[in-house]
Order: sequence, then structure tokens, then C-alpha cells
Amino acid sequence: MVGESTVKWNPFAPDYFHDPYPIYAKSREHNPIQRDSYGNIIIFKYRDVAPLLESGDFEVSNLEAYFESKENYIFKNSPQCPFLAKTTSKWLMYLNGDIHRKLRIALGKVLFSYDFDRLIQEAVQDSIAHFQDYQELDLVDFSKYFIFHILKQFIGLKDFASFEKVVEFSNLAARSQDIFVSKQMYLKINDCFTWGKGLFAETGFKDRLVKELDGFEFEEEDYYSILAVTLMAFFETSKDNLSFSLHHILLKRSLIEYILEADAKQIKWITEELIRYNSPLQFTVRISKKEVEIDGHHFPTGTRFVLGIASANRDEEIFESPEEIIPNRQINPHLAFGSGPHTCLGALIARKEMEFGLKPMIQFLQKFSIMTEIPLVWGNQIFMRTLDKAMVNID
Ligand code: HEM
Repeated sequence: MVGESTVKWNPFAPDYFHDPYPIYAKSREHNPIQRDSYGNIIIFKYRDVAPLLESGDFEVSNLEAYFESKENYIFKNSPQCPFLAKTTSKWLMYLNGDIHRKLRIALGKVLFSYDFDRLIQEAVQDSIAHFQDYQELDLVDFSKYFIFHILKQFIGLKDFASFEKVVEFSNLAARSQDIFVSKQMYLKINDCFTWGKGLFAETGFKDRLVKELDGFEFEEEDYYSILAVTLMAFFETSKDNLSFSLHHILLKRSLIEYILEADAKQIKWITEELIRYNSPLQFTVRISKKEVEIDGHHFPTGTRFVLGIASANRDEEIFESPEEIIPNRQINPHLAFGSGPHTCLGALIARKEMEFGLKPMIQFLQKFSIMTEIPLVWGNQIFMRTLDKAMVNID
């Protein structure tokens, strides 16, 4: 029977954000299918998560409908105009069926019409030049700077869209998808979605999108929704992946040496391994379209499943020594980019960021050491794990 074990996933436990992996491991061992107090079913093992991502018996949850149903409560006694449902209405990861398929093809065509090899290599050089004379720096700032410089080249941001504004927009957009979000936080996200409309310049990105979406009868707000999700999906996960990676590498001399000496194939291996190990998107959600059975448990149509991607990526049934970064791990069927119809549309770009970035960045950053006296600061986000501060300096 689901929910009988005393081992329970609890994201409110002290130290959870600092390191959620011990409770994932315990859950896999003692209670791999759990029910939370809202009736969600949380699953932790690779053998349950992977097939569910691919199965046609499940669909993604509808974030727009969720916000619509909550807006009366969120905006009660508030003068603000609800903008949560509208802004999330065209977010690919919350669409099913035909509209998902068509929008995915269109956004994919637009994204891959850009020369990301060049944009990424230029951003690597820009970032290293920018931080060249620093004696002390935050790896999170370094990562944000790098990803921002790729993003602003292709998506088109207005001049006033300062670095800080984009960082805040992206983070709040990511928080809109988290679970256990407070009313105050939703109001803040709503504000951000309202002023975010001014972030995007009229640029080639939108023009290309309009052309690809010919015949869709989309309105201005639909295009804004697509721009918003592209910014968030691009910026948030990539900078988290890079900042975690740089931190892990600088902690271990053997990883620094591996990267400095690696050829292209070895860089690909460590890129995959770091993405597995980091799993910036720790969880995702699926809803059952019919009655389903998992490990002998039966669940009715409409059950909401929370899939532990990060836990699955450390499952000892699949990965040898899963808690270690093994730079030349060659069999690496991780789920950090998801799997099935909603597989990450930007996976190729995220991989290129690491493949072009890791070596020159480590060549530059190897003179810095982790400032152990300043603790790492982790964001209090459950679904998208975020590092807020990781200081390094030159001894
Ligand atoms: C290391 C970096 C990244 C990670 C770990 C990551 C992870 C993921 C995961 C796990 C999903 C699937 C979610 C689900 O099935 O519910 C996803 C979807 C998506 N990602 Fe990424 N992502 C990354 C970078 C990017 C980049 C650079 C872009 C570029 C715009 C991007 C755009 C998207 C989009 C549009 C979707 C929705 C796809 C769909 O629903 O069809 N991601 N990502």
C-alpha cells in the first residue's frame, strides 16, 4: 500500500535545499512510491520514472488551467490584474496533443536557425574577458553572465532589459512552476509577468516565430508567452547546470586535470556526466489519462504523478557509483533532459554550452580556489534546483 513507510520525502526538512540527495536515496530504498498530503504520487526510482516519461498513457499538467482555477484566490483583495494564466498559456511543457506538436516544431525551427556554435564561443570569450582582472568572483555570476550573453544575441532584449531584470524574470518564471508556492510569491510572479512584457524587443526571433506559426491566429500575448518560456527554459537550467559544474570541478584537482587534458570525445563524456549529476530540473509532473499500474499499485485516471528525475539519475540500479562524478562514464542513460514527447528542446544547445565552454573556462578559473569560509547559498526551489552563491578567489 502506497504511503505506509515512515520514510517520507519532505522538502521542508532543514538542509533539504543544501542537499536533497540523501532523502532521495532513502526513498528509493525504503519507499519509492509515496503519496503526499495533496494526493500527489511521488516516484523516485529510474525504472518507474523513465517509462512514465515516455508512455502515451500520461500527459503533462495544464499550468494555464491551474492558474485560472487559483486566480480568484490569489488576487482576492488585490488590485492586480491576473497575468499568470495568460503568460503560461503557450508554455510547451504544459501543452498536450496537436498544439504541443505543432508549436514544438515551430519553436524548434526558429531556435535552430541560429548559429549557436558561434554565439556560444563568442560568449565564452566575452565572459572570460569580463572577469579577467577579478581576484574574487561568484561562480553563479560568472555562469549568469555567460548564459545572458548568448541569450541576448538571439532572443532580442530591449536595451533597458538589464542583466538583473532578465535574471529576476527568469527566476520568477521558473518559480511559477514549483510546488507549494505561497500567495505572496504568486503576486510577485504576476508583477514580474506584467513588466516582463517590456523586456523583448521587436526582433528577428519574434518575426521568425510569427512566420513559422502562420495560420495559428495567435495574439500578441501568445507570442509573449512563447518568448517568456524560451527565456526561462534557456536561461535558468543552463546557468544552474554551469554553476554547479564549475563548483564541482574546482573542488577536485583530478577533474580540473581531466578537463585540461581532455579531447573532444572526453569533453562530451564529462558534459553528460555533469548534467546527470546536477539534474537542474529535479522533478516534473505527469497526469494519468487512464487507470495505471506501477509496481503492483493501481492508480485511477487523473492521478497526478511527481517524477523524481534527479533521484532516478542517482539510482544505483542503473548507474555504478551514482554519487560520484565519473568523468569518462560512457554508458549514461540519464533523464536530466527528460525523455519522450516533451524531451528538452534545447538539449543540443545546453550540451554545446558545456562542450565549448568547459575547457577555456577551467583554463581561466583554475587559478581560483573555493572560498570554503563562505558557505554556498542554495535557492529555496524544489523543482528547479538553484545555486545562488558560490564564491572563489585567488589565494
Ligand atoms: C542543462 C540545461 C537544461 C536542462 C537540464 C533542461 C531540462 C529539461 C527537461 C527535463 C525538460 C522536460 C520537462 C518535462 O518532460 O516535463 C525540458 C523541456 C524543455 N526545455 Fe530544457 N533543459 C535545459 C536547457 C534548455 C535550453 C538551453 C532550452 C532552450 C530554449 C530549453 C528549452 C526547453 C523547452 C522549450 C522544453 C519543453 C519541451 C516540450 O515540452 O516539448 N531547455 N528541459
